[in-house]
Amino acid sequence: MDRVLLFSISAVLLNLSQALPAKVLPTDQDIQSEKHDAMDIFSRILEANKEISYMLLEGDMALPKTRSAMKCLNDYCKWPKSPSGQVEVPYTIASDFYEDEKAVIENAMKSIASKTCVRFVLRTNQVDYISIGNLVGCSSTVGRSGGKQQLSLSVDGCVSHGIIEHELIHSLGFHHEHTRSDRDQYVQINWQNIPQASAYNFQKKDTNNLNTPYDYNSIMHYGRTAFAIHYGKETITPIPNSSVQIGQRTEMSNIDIQRINKLYECAL
Ligand SMILES: *[C@@H]1O[C@H](CO)[C@@H](O)[C@H](O)[C@H]1NC(C)=O
Ligand SMILES: [Zn+2]
Repeated sequence: MDRVLLFSISAVLLNLSQALPAKVLPTDQDIQSEKHDAMDIFSRILEANKEISYMLLEGDMALPKTRSAMKCLNDYCKWPKSPSGQVEVPYTIASDFYEDEKAVIENAMKSIASKTCVRFVLRTNQVDYISIGNLVGCSSTVGRSGGKQQLSLSVDGCVSHGIIEHELIHSLGFHHEHTRSDRDQYVQINWQNIPQASAYNFQKKDTNNLNTPYDYNSIMHYGRTAFAIHYGKETITPIPNSSVQIGQRTEMSNIDIQRINKLYECAL
């Protein structure tokens, strides 16, 4: 089956799966506004998904009672630690990625592993795992959701080192830096430049900041024009110094690494 066909089928499947409340968990769409093309059918599917996930995000934050054995904090769950002290995160990877794309994905996993106690391991029969697919856009569930959870890395723009790290870090339990509970001291959100349908991407969250400072250099921070209503308009402005750079997607910052190690109590 060719990629375009697979792409549209998976887009529809994603749409359907997100319409089932029982399966819904907080997800995070990372499509930058410049990629939105109102004339593009996939964008429209994506917009529909965003609307749906927004409504369910607001209405369905509670985790199912059957998951009470999982260690959950606020709205996400951690991956369990093995007696060896390593945190194993099982994953599967769709067969339609080319070998060089798989290599980029595996390299991002190794990069996280080399600096933390998290180890991404190919799934054998584990119940909870990340299913990496070439679906619509770049997106991930925040934390472990239980069972199979989709992590989308569209070959059209998401298979790059920094973006993959960003999505994998979501799957470990981290939200965007600019939604941190204390963000108003560090950034100004320019609501007038944000379309209503994208506003949920900028809502402040009751985050566990793990005693680490606000990090403009975090790989989890949005860039200043993310989801802008018009190309180039600023949606996020650092304060008090508006010249500070934000939105890098090159490599995890030292504070990103420190946070993973703190959350998972890695003994390094
Ligand atoms: C503001 O940030 C820029 C970029 O990091 C830096 O070069 C400049 O010195 C900063 N200005 C002040 C007043 O701190
Ligand atoms: Zn994200």
